[in-house]
Amino acid sequence: MSDISRRKFLQTTSASALLFFSGLNNTHAAPAKAYPSKKIGNIRDLKPNEPLAFNYPDEQSPCLLVKVDNETIGGVGPQKNVVSFSTLCTHMGCPLTYSKGRLVCKCHYSMFDVSRNGQTYQGLASQWVAQIVLRLDAGTGNIYAEGVEGLIYGRIGNLKLS
Ligand code: FES
Repeated sequence: MSDISRRKFLQTTSASALLFFSGLNNTHAAPAKAYPSKKIGNIRDLKPNEPLAFNYPDEQSPCLLVKVDNETIGGVGPQKNVVSFSTLCTHMGCPLTYSKGRLVCKCHYSMFDVSRNGQTYQGLASQWVAQIVLRLDAGTGNIYAEGVEGLIYGRIGNLKLS
């Protein structure tokens, strides 16, 4: 076999092997997990600044739903003032509590603005707190959690691998 034909042979077999193994890889790739849709409350039952606790996207992830006094980014409802967030502080995972438009961490005094996507503006946390994506059914008033923006504290992905 000449040098040119040997090189041509190696190029052809390498390309074939690459296609074969990439095909195998696709065949065995796990399907991407989708966020569940979970009913978490009804807009008619919410009282201003009284948060409702729930877990999402699984039972190990505490969150809250709250109707605040002003329009928010990502809020639902006629005033866009119903929002939802993880209640795990992004610094070290301490529980967050709601107070006057903010999520507050009593461990190291971080604060997050619920009107601005959970942006941190005080304390040791440098990451914004994860915001829960909401959907309002205008007919029934039911509110559904249907996704997460940002990473929930302590996770490498918001959806745990099963
Ligand atoms: S755990 Fe919240 S600021 Fe440290």
